[in-house]
Amino acid sequence: MSQLSRTGVSLEDDLLQDFDRLIGKRGYKNRSEAIRDLIREALLTDTVDSNKPVVGTLTLVYDHHMPNLGEKLTAFQHTAGAMILATTHVHLDHHYCLEVVIMKGRSKELQGIADQMLALRGVELGKLVLANSGKGLKVAHTHPHPHTH
Ligand code: NI
Repeated sequence: MSQLSRTGVSLEDDLLQDFDRLIGKRGYKNRSEAIRDLIREALLTDTVDSNKPVVGTLTLVYDHHMPNLGEKLTAFQHTAGAMILATTHVHLDHHYCLEVVIMKGRSKELQGIADQMLALRGVELGKLVLANSGKGLKVAHTHPHPHTH
């Protein structure tokens, strides 16, 4: 567990009011956790921009009646090899399948795989979400005592 440091930030009144309104809407109980999350998000953006290792989930919704589409999606995943950690497939209805592909690799490699799969005809919707491997996201627990609830 890393140690907590305190820092002060000077903000214009209206900027702070807007911030408080936003974090209230998002359900934050205090500014500190909201600010920590913003910092983590900025660090993740830098990690992605620097092409560092990340984990990612690619969500795809596709029409399995499209000729050869299933085979193409499988072929892409075989080519990506060790970067694909797991795939979950759900048959949504008569036409559509939902697939979630969990990947690990450098951000640009994962984005490249995702872009190729999303561009296939018959893939109707999709989104790649990248995250850090966890290292670097670790923060000190703000509660000095164990939870009682
Ligand atoms: Ni299916």
